[in-house]
Amino acid sequence: MEFKTNHEIIRRARRNARGPVWDYLAGGSESETAMRRNRFGLDSIALKPRVLRNVSALDVGTTVIGHRSRIPVFLAPMASLQLVTPAAAQAVDDAAEEFGIINMLSGHSRPSLEEIAMNSLHPKVFQIYVRGGRNWLEDLLGRVKDNNYAALAVTVDAAVYSNRERQMIAGWAPPTRSNAAGREFLAALNWDTWDEIRQIWGGPMILKGVSRPEDAETGIQHGAEVIYVSNHGGRQLDHDRATIQVLPEIVSAVDGRAEVLVDGGFMRGSDVIKAIALGAQAVGIGKLQAFALCAGGLSGLIDCLTILEDEIRIAMGLLGVTSLDQLNSAYLAPAKPVNSAHEMSAFPHIPGGRLT
Ligand SMILES: Cc1cc2nc3c(=O)[nH]c(=O)nc-3n(C[C@H](O)[C@H](O)[C@H](O)COP(=O)(O)O)c2cc1C
Repeated sequence: MEFKTNHEIIRRARRNARGPVWDYLAGGSESETAMRRNRFGLDSIALKPRVLRNVSALDVGTTVIGHRSRIPVFLAPMASLQLVTPAAAQAVDDAAEEFGIINMLSGHSRPSLEEIAMNSLHPKVFQIYVRGGRNWLEDLLGRVKDNNYAALAVTVDAAVYSNRERQMIAGWAPPTRSNAAGREFLAALNWDTWDEIRQIWGGPMILKGVSRPEDAETGIQHGAEVIYVSNHGGRQLDHDRATIQVLPEIVSAVDGRAEVLVDGGFMRGSDVIKAIALGAQAVGIGKLQAFALCAGGLSGLIDCLTILEDEIRIAMGLLGVTSLDQLNSAYLAPAKPVNSAHEMSAFPHIPGGRLT
């Protein structure tokens, strides 16, 4: 392994990310309050260990959308990773296959969904931003089906483009932003569109971008198999709540009728453990995935996942649990963050703090 800590990965990523690419990967919207809150929420939970519990045999594995997953982590969909390295989406998918976790391929990824599918046999999810009407949906979802994607994630927290001010100040936008084609379909998205997609697709559906129990309930009424709690990493609605704060409300509303996934600010094995203890099935990594790719491509991402796995194992062992299903809210307590929370607050040894 080239990297022993995710600290080193982030420092290398910062060195490698040229110009506005760093702003694209690391930034949030407007005041970046929602992005910081994601970390603040995680930093505001302490862990409560049990002792003398014989943790010599530990199982960090689980299932995600019914498929075996080596750790309770999946790769959140990320557009325009080709800005980091040319075949980045392929490297991400290869890392997921080699490590043994689920990859959610962004609908805005390059190479194409066909090329990715041709090069890998493991189960993976396709994420869609709705940017067309019935014909567009039939064509795209037909291609997704023909290429055997295991589930479809519909992103619903991007009805309107947010202001990402780090990029605006740099006078730069990623390719997906400069191409406004079909934006009106994103704005017009409603439950009828969801039903239409469901009817065309016919397979498992993930509702990505849920922040309120009412929407989780409606999603279940409309056949969602997975409720994915997310505020887009604080890149869409500024001042949204931390996803870890929202999670218990959603888990309680869902009440076992769907799988609950979550993302937003997760950087450490101990962060992952907190979400599992609050009822999530698994945790998505966005920024951390991008930083690892930027630091070392495919092998950088495998190193990052291996480090996360080790951190999860250490946290479980020291908490006194041997499998993820033993975790519950009794292992958690509210606590004051020890540092000022920001997107890098899980990494106190980064010189200069925030790396902006
Ligand atoms: C660079 C970047 C690109 C993203 N692209 C997409 C995308 O194409 N589709 C999507 O649903 N979410 C996208 N997201 C949001 C992620 O899927 C995820 O919700 C978020 O990054 C999780 O928060 P985290 O970055 O703090 O881990 C993107 C996030 C980042 C940082």
